[in-house]
Amino acid sequence: MLKGFGRTPFGPRTTPGLGAAPTSADEPPPLPSEAPPPPKPTPPPPAAARPREAPKEPNPADEAYETLKRHIHMRLVDRLDLNRVTEMDPSTLRGEVRNVVEHLCDSENPLLNRNERMRLVNEILDETFGFGPLELLLKDEKIADIMINGPRKIFVEKEGRIQRSEVVFRDDEHLLQIIDRIVSRVGRRVDEASPMVDARLPNGSRFNAIIPPLSLDGATVTIRMFGSRPLTKDDLLRFKAFTPEMLALMEAAMRARLNIIISGGTGSGKTTLLNTLSSFIQPDHRVITIEDAAELQLQQDHVVRLETRPPNIEGRGAVTATDLVKNALRMRPDRIIIGECRGAETLDMIQAMNTGHEGSMTTVHANSPRDALSRLETMISMAGLELPIRALRSQFASAIDLIIQASRLQGGPRKVVSISEVIGMEGDMIIMQEIFAFRQLGIDGNSRAYGEFIATGVRPTFMDRLEYAGCALAPDLFRARTLLKD
Ligand SMILES: Nc1ncnc2c1ncn2[C@@H]1O[C@H](COP(=O)(O)OP(=O)(O)OP(=O)(O)O)[C@@H](O)[C@H]1O
Ligand SMILES: [Mg+2]
Repeated sequence: MLKGFGRTPFGPRTTPGLGAAPTSADEPPPLPSEAPPPPKPTPPPPAAARPREAPKEPNPADEAYETLKRHIHMRLVDRLDLNRVTEMDPSTLRGEVRNVVEHLCDSENPLLNRNERMRLVNEILDETFGFGPLELLLKDEKIADIMINGPRKIFVEKEGRIQRSEVVFRDDEHLLQIIDRIVSRVGRRVDEASPMVDARLPNGSRFNAIIPPLSLDGATVTIRMFGSRPLTKDDLLRFKAFTPEMLALMEAAMRARLNIIISGGTGSGKTTLLNTLSSFIQPDHRVITIEDAAELQLQQDHVVRLETRPPNIEGRGAVTATDLVKNALRMRPDRIIIGECRGAETLDMIQAMNTGHEGSMTTVHANSPRDALSRLETMISMAGLELPIRALRSQFASAIDLIIQASRLQGGPRKVVSISEVIGMEGDMIIMQEIFAFRQLGIDGNSRAYGEFIATGVRPTFMDRLEYAGCALAPDLFRARTLLKD
């Protein structure tokens, strides 16, 4: 219970809000200038970041809390010396603002207890410097996805399950302000003229927003969280995303510079796998990554990161993945990694894989290894690149060595469900063989899929390549058997 709010003597607001201040971009609506000193504030309170209370039934204590927060926020904006704000280094500024807010808390409402005061100060700092209500969710390491459908409906995927969050934005305007703040940091914009935008949060998370009129029920935001540190191979082994045998094959394939496609449905863990496997790249290899919104977190020193660019407001200046792959080839790459193949760049990547950039990788949205090949084929033909199908397939067959299929199974577990080798062509068909697989056996009492990882008994034909590269694998690794049940 928040003590003492009913007695807070809120004085009328004397100085106008500093609308243009960088720190007031999402300043709450001004209090009525004749705000009565004590009791219940009249207009229904904005519920900016209210993590733990249900959004429906406003409780008088919350109203008082929100009013106090707005009030202190406004006093803060009044006090900021804008000339100094722009000159100061951000961490010093944050420290100074914290002091001012703490001081204001004490002078405005000395009856706050320690926790209340800390929460209030943190929330005001989040509103001023950060992403408002989103900050709370962004700090939660267990969240994989944040889905905002308008200001009051926010869902998160936590531990494999989608649930409604109690965090809400004040209103449409508040949500739009936060979106604007996020995208303008990376030099992008969102407005009626360009209502869809991709960006990246400072913590590396991928951010997408689509606003009205394209989204019908308010601005819609989707955030893919990657946590403060990328998942490692040990984390994924622990989660039973694959077995040590599968990891041994993937590691050897990476070191021996096989070309790898990671295939999977949406949110199946493709980018995570790409990141994790990239840790096996030799430190002296020059890696060039190409992405639409940079989300790869490669551990190597020698990485050059390139990002595509959407057209500007006049429709000019777009830089596509194809442009970047072409440019990358002139940058002496040892390996090229394309975050996700979506279109014409597929052909450039396949050609790069065939012309001395072995060890390249990409991901593709597809539901099986076979489907991955046909998706790549479709992307090339949709891009209007007319190539005889047989010629195209034989390029695929010689370029691609391994397809790793990721899947998000019912109930949330993410697993590598197939590792298949591309062997070659037979007639017009690309021939593949599966080496390891996960076979789902059923659904348990918690509606969670279970099954077993198996070795199919097939030994890859590239064993000699692994051996030449000094990463030979024992043939016994591939003996047909069940590897692990989960
Ligand atoms: N094996 C795993 N176990 C638990 N969580 C995982 C696992 N793999 C990935 N994740 C988490 O799941 C989420 C989705 O992963 P990721 O972004 O790699 O999927 P994706 O297939 O690339 O998705 P998209 O199709 O949207 O690009 C991330 O938050 C990631 O941290
Ligand atoms: Mg991805």
